[in-house]
Amino acid sequence: MTQPAVHPVDPAFAARARITREDYRRDYEESVRDPERFWARIGQRLDWMTPPTVIKDTSFELADFHIRWYADGELNASVNCLDRHLATRGDKTALLFEHDDPTLPAESISYRELHVRVCRLGNALRALGVRKGDRVTIYLPMIPDAVVAMLACARIGAVHSVVFGGFAPQSIADRVADCGSKLIITADEGLRGGKRIALKANVDAALKLPGTNSVETVLVVRHTGAAVDMQMPRDRWFDAVVDSQADACEPERMNAEDPLFILYTSGSTGKPKGVLHTTGGYLVYASYTHECVFDLREDDVYWCTADVGWVTGHSYIVYGPLANGATALVFEGVPNFPDASRFWQVVDRHKVTVFYTAPTAIRALMREGEEPVQATSRASLRLLGTVGEPINPEAWRWYFEVVGESRCPIVDTWWQTETGGILISPLPGATHLKPGSATTPFFGVQPALVDANGHTLQGEAEGNLVLTDSWPGQMRTVYGDHGRFIDTYFRTYPGRYFTGDGARRDADGDWWITGRVDDVINVSGHRIGTAEVESALVSHPKVAEAAVVGFPHDIKGQGIYAYVTLVAGETASDDLRKELVAHVRQEIGPIATPDHLQWAPGLPKTRSGKIMRRILRKIAENAPEQLGDTSTLADPSVVGSLVSERRNA
Ligand code: WTA
Repeated sequence: MTQPAVHPVDPAFAARARITREDYRRDYEESVRDPERFWARIGQRLDWMTPPTVIKDTSFELADFHIRWYADGELNASVNCLDRHLATRGDKTALLFEHDDPTLPAESISYRELHVRVCRLGNALRALGVRKGDRVTIYLPMIPDAVVAMLACARIGAVHSVVFGGFAPQSIADRVADCGSKLIITADEGLRGGKRIALKANVDAALKLPGTNSVETVLVVRHTGAAVDMQMPRDRWFDAVVDSQADACEPERMNAEDPLFILYTSGSTGKPKGVLHTTGGYLVYASYTHECVFDLREDDVYWCTADVGWVTGHSYIVYGPLANGATALVFEGVPNFPDASRFWQVVDRHKVTVFYTAPTAIRALMREGEEPVQATSRASLRLLGTVGEPINPEAWRWYFEVVGESRCPIVDTWWQTETGGILISPLPGATHLKPGSATTPFFGVQPALVDANGHTLQGEAEGNLVLTDSWPGQMRTVYGDHGRFIDTYFRTYPGRYFTGDGARRDADGDWWITGRVDDVINVSGHRIGTAEVESALVSHPKVAEAAVVGFPHDIKGQGIYAYVTLVAGETASDDLRKELVAHVRQEIGPIATPDHLQWAPGLPKTRSGKIMRRILRKIAENAPEQLGDTSTLADPSVVGSLVSERRNA
């Protein structure tokens, strides 16, 4: 292998940075030697109603498993994101809103205004009977009301569950049913790239599905103004309920370990799980990582292009930036609408200084060439970031050289819904950069590599990525299924948290994430469980069996490849193929659209009936020469027919 390019820390950047190389060495050493002391100090960055005296109380040992941080502290997340800034930053812009339609004027919402909007909605939710601990589902486009909704829940101690606006009714219903939501906040429609998304109609369809009768109220934000069915008394217009409320709303006193939110994410088996994050540790971790990794300054204009439907939106659009008193941009649209210059036009319009996006967006824009980038100035940018999937070195270099004009460090941030915040990433004033490597662990984070038998690998090595000790932002449970939490993350390698990712540590000790080692596919930075797509396919009456794998995709990182066996008597046709693809979109949502659907008269199975996905992955990659040993299959001949069918496709 050729030596990877190393970009040393830019001395000019380091001279002004919050954290230098020496700071990092010293503080990292302390953070793992004496985590109590380190996190006690960092915990003081929040406003506590009752300051914590117990800091770290955690054990990954199965016999004594528990994770508690700041356990006797009390606080309110919305107070930390709003009230405490009012004296010094009341008129500072908290949110900048950029519409999907570039001809509409952008909006600017100060901390004072955001506080009022959150208080009014908090009062409205209370008036509608929502109490501390109740669950509220949020199904909104990327508009400021989504942020308001999350913070209003936090204010009154309700647990929000944000469902990405691209999910279909069945997915909404599954998530509502799993957590027993009492109320849903949605909008008439969403807008993305000029296309309308019928959010309210999707909620209506979801609430006709079984298991959703916990929902008493649907609050509807008027966004596009489209006509929607309002079913009284269940459905209420948001403004009609909220505008008349008082501007002050008493915040709920929350224990540090009280739930803040649930966010559903895909795993290797079964239905998506409700990842539960609590209040104190999560907020300390989200805000501190945001400040350090993005080297936050008071006058930054910070833009994370994620959607609040994903964890990146939770931690790095809402909780981290607002707890830090930053100015965060909320963008409703997509990178290529109306054209491939849009991101950079928005950067110029708002003088964005810190820009955080996904490799898939970079690859898609890279394909459009340099011209749409060169047409803009981008002079305001000083730091770039990526998240969601490994970034290939070509895309890294394009981002660095073309977008950032070799002036802006790139922080490649590795983390997960489960981790609450960034775990491995360069700190821009402290860490050299290597295209494709997430480089070094954040304070308190102790990664390790293990082989399939759980033996720890030392030095330069590649294996499965685990974490040997807890950090404050760690998820606490799978909502309603603590056994699944322990089984999924702590049983494979006892005493350690298993990430589901593979990684490599190079000779310098830098970390390279190689991708999922389980049955999760990462499509454009979105996690999709193969089991979810399979169960959507087999729910179609003509499908007998389905197996789904990921395959390398130039833009999306990974694409979805489905093998389908039809019920006896059904005939394969292009129309049926289209029907099945549409069926998956309807069951899960457009993000789960299979890129390829191959008819499979039979699937490669072991004699005990287990589908051999390794073989299916190689066929999907069109690399039959790497199939390996197929002699243990119950019927080795199915492989040959799948391979020739793939070739002819
Ligand atoms: C992948 C998103 C390589 C990884 C915050 C992880 C990455 C999964 C990176 C979590 C990165 C995320 N480099 N891979 N910088 N960031 N991943 O839960 O496979 O949506 O396990 O959280 O994305 O996806 P999730």
